[in-house]
Parts: sequence; C-alpha cells; structure tokens
Amino acid sequence: MTCPFRKIDPSQHNYNVSFSRAEPVKKSWLTKIISFPISLKNSLQDLYAVAVKGNIRTALENRYNRSNYLSQFNPFQKLIFSAEPAVMKEILNASKDDPEGLFLPRNVKSGFSKFLSDVLGETLLPDDSMRTCSDKMAKNFRKPLSKFIGLSSIRNHTQILEEIAIETVKNWGKTVTVEVNEQCNIYTATVISKLMIGHPGIGESYSDIADATNYFNKYLAMAEPRQIFCKKFSNEYKQSVCTIRNAFNRCMTLASTDSSDSLIKEMIKEGLSPIQIKSTFFLSLAAGVETTSSLLTYLLWQLGQDKQAQILMREELNNEKTLYEAATQSVFLDSFFSESLRMFTPVYMLASSKTHPLKFSVKDHQDKVVHEERIDKDSLLVVTPTFAARNPDRFENPDSFEPTRFLNNNEDYSWLPFGFNKHTCPGKNLAIKEIKLLVAEIMRNYEISSHPNEEITTIGYFTLKVSENVQLRLKPLKKAE
Ligand code: HEM
Repeated sequence: MTCPFRKIDPSQHNYNVSFSRAEPVKKSWLTKIISFPISLKNSLQDLYAVAVKGNIRTALENRYNRSNYLSQFNPFQKLIFSAEPAVMKEILNASKDDPEGLFLPRNVKSGFSKFLSDVLGETLLPDDSMRTCSDKMAKNFRKPLSKFIGLSSIRNHTQILEEIAIETVKNWGKTVTVEVNEQCNIYTATVISKLMIGHPGIGESYSDIADATNYFNKYLAMAEPRQIFCKKFSNEYKQSVCTIRNAFNRCMTLASTDSSDSLIKEMIKEGLSPIQIKSTFFLSLAAGVETTSSLLTYLLWQLGQDKQAQILMREELNNEKTLYEAATQSVFLDSFFSESLRMFTPVYMLASSKTHPLKFSVKDHQDKVVHEERIDKDSLLVVTPTFAARNPDRFENPDSFEPTRFLNNNEDYSWLPFGFNKHTCPGKNLAIKEIKLLVAEIMRNYEISSHPNEEITTIGYFTLKVSENVQLRLKPLKKAE
C-alpha cells in the first residue's frame, strides 16, 4: 500500500504534514494490542485519533477534562501522538537538535534523572549520556557502538554470538520444559554483557543482570509518574540497583587489566569518560535486554504453535553452512522474524520535546488544508511504532500472524520498530542476529511446541512484554546418518 502522505522536505525548518482522510479506526485496534498497568492507560486510548484525524488536541479535549488529563505530565506541555510513519519520521527528524529527552527531564531531581543517579552513583549532566548529548558528542557515543555492534562489524563477533547461542540451546535441551520468558532474558543479558565487558565473569551472574533489568522495567512502569521516587525503595529495587552498580564497577576494573576485546575498551579508546561509559552500559542493558528477549519469547511461542513453519524453516537451515550464515541467509526465518516484530513491536512510544516550533497541517484528499496548528517547542510529540505496525490501512489483516507476509516484500520496518534518525537503535543488527542465531540453532536440533495454546497476551511496561509465562518443549530431532 502506498503512503498517503506527500513527501516532505526535511531540510525545511517547518514541517507540513498532510493527512488523507481514512476510515475511522476502531478503538479496539488500540486496546487489544496492549494492556497497560500504568496511569498512561487512559491517555493512550486516544492514540488512534491522530492516526486518522490528526487533530489530537480536539479529541483529547472532548474526551477528558483537559487539566486532569494533562496534569499527569507537565501541565504546560501538549501531547501529540502519531502512529503514521510519515508523520512519525517527521517528528523524529525534528528532534535532531533536541538536547533533552527521557533521560534528562528539566527537573533533575525527578523522573529518570533520579533513577539514573541511583544506578550510576552520579547525577547525569548533558553530554554524559547519548540520550541527552549535543549532536557533536552523539557521534562519540555512537562510534564505538557501531564499531562493535554495527552492520559490518558484527561479523567480527560472530564466533562469540554463535558460542552463546549454541551453549544456550544445549542447556535448554537438558530440561523437559523451558520457561521461555526467563531464559530469553538470561540469553540476551549474556550477549550484551559479554560484548560490553568481553569477559564471562563479572561478579554478578548473567541471570542477576537479567533479573535487575527486568525489574527496573516493571518498576518504572508500575509507579505513578509523579511519585516514582518519593516512595520508599523496595528491597527489590535496592537489590537491582546494587547488582547493576557492581557490574559497572567490576567491568570498569576488568577493562583496564583484561586483554580481550570489549565495547568498554572501545569507548575508552574513543575518549569517553567513566560516567559516559557507565551510562552507555546502562542504556544498552536497559534498551537491549528486555526488548530483544520479549520479542524472542513471542517469536518462539508463535513458532512453537506452527509445525509447518518449523519444517519450512528447517529446509533452509539444515545445510553445511555455519550457524551464522544459515541463520542470516534464511529468507523464511527473516520473514518470520519481521512478522513477529510487526505483531510484537517492543517499543510502543518514543517521546521527544522540540527545540523549535513546528507547523502541523492536516489535508484532505483534495489537498485542501482542513486543520493547521503551530506546535510550539514545549509540546511533547509521541511516536507509536507498536500501533503503526497494526494500522489496517497499511497491513492486510493486521491482527493476524502471517509468517510469509514479508517473503516477497522489501518493506523495511516501515513502522519504525527501531526508531529513526538521531536516536535510531544502534543495537538493531545485534538484536536481529542474536534472535535469528538462537532460533536457527533450536530449529537445527529440535522440534518445538509452545504453551499456552491460545493467543498470548501482552502488557505495556516500560516496553511491551509478554504478560504470561510461556513454556517451550524441545523434542530432539532424529539426525540423518
Ligand atoms: C528487538 C530489539 C530492540 C528494539 C525493538 C529496539 C528499539 C529501539 C528503539 C525504538 C530505539 C529508539 C529510541 C528513541 O528514538 O528514543 C532504541 C534505542 C536504543 N537501543 Fe535499541 N532496540 C532493540 C535492541 C537493542 C539492543 C540489543 C541494544 C544493544 C546495545 C540496543 C541499544 C539501544 C541504545 C543504546 C539506544 C539509544 C540510542 C540513542 O539514544 O541514541 N537496542 N532501540
């Protein structure tokens, strides 16, 4: 389906966004995808409005007592949601000179800043984190990351990745039933910790790190935005902070004495300061463990429901190729992965405030402006990939899982599951590769079946998670002589 938006010149200071009139989207489109345990729940129900109407402000004002609704956030901030890729891109484009973001709210005593100073042991200043730094500094943060986990460089770490996948599957195969959520978490924490630190022993076990990141994810979302840090810290919170802090400190010490290759060493070489390295480490754990493991859990559950898909996948994977080659060259696995990512897009909200005003215009089929407004620089613009992935205007049968949907399709993640522009995910290739490697190794050795048998439910914490336990049974394949 072609995009109904006309091309917008990103070099312009003001952006014109045009909407064609679409059939109203049913509210169930939104609510059935995610259930939220958080106070954002009500507000998110109106996300659909901008996807079809554009005029989110009127929709919100009609539905809510405005002051109540907005008081959860900065009362002077307007919230504008978008689930339409062309608009989403414009919003993310416009944040290229945005010095703020999630990690550095204006009030450094609240929100994530407080949380981060608990974890990192210091208060972050601008330029201490890739989320908040200047454009110039952003390159310094991203360079070592892309050297390590970027598209071309990831091949240098193929062996490490293969070893972790093979070892993980070997361990899973020893048990009757694998608790997938937990085991996927440990797998992704292991991959990131090993690449970051370059050393298997980091004081804390990988499962401790996985538990800690999992807990932060839940804890942050369960709390009321205004009260998160006023509450007495629970023991679990303290324990998680302690685990991550010890891991940081230990990895910094190891980096100076250990001879093996690691991302931390790469960051030291680039001249990043200890707090900048720590914040990147934390960010990579927070951004890379839960997201990848939840998606992997969902994918394995889908695959475990579908014997035919397993047969098709195995046809492309059972060959003399290395695990890495087989996993990355299988077109069916690639399509299955993309469809899983579409149905389960872990990052459902990307928010950014603007440093300059934008112009937002809504046009009808005849290109006539039906609504126009200035979005001033204090507006909070929210981009919603999870919802864009289910837009019925873009995907046929958007709520049904179709493993072959992307087989002959050069659609390149148009719903922006990995973001776009300045903050686009530097771990995208790592995530794709680690998931495919594990799946390929399982498929080469086992037939799998998953429980529950009905559609699994999801829940929106900090990122989207599978809300119930998924169990996987592995039945060894008979190897041909
Ligand atoms: C399926 C898995 C993953 C998904 C869906 C995902 C998604 C995203 C998205 C949407 C963003 C953009 C945030 C924004 O614009 O505000 C992002 C940023 C980021 N991701 Fe990922 N990610 C995944 C895995 C990973 C992995 C494995 C790493 C490992 C290092 C990672 C590290 C990061 C970092 C460091 C950022 C911040 C980049 C910046 O602010 O400049 N992610 N991710």
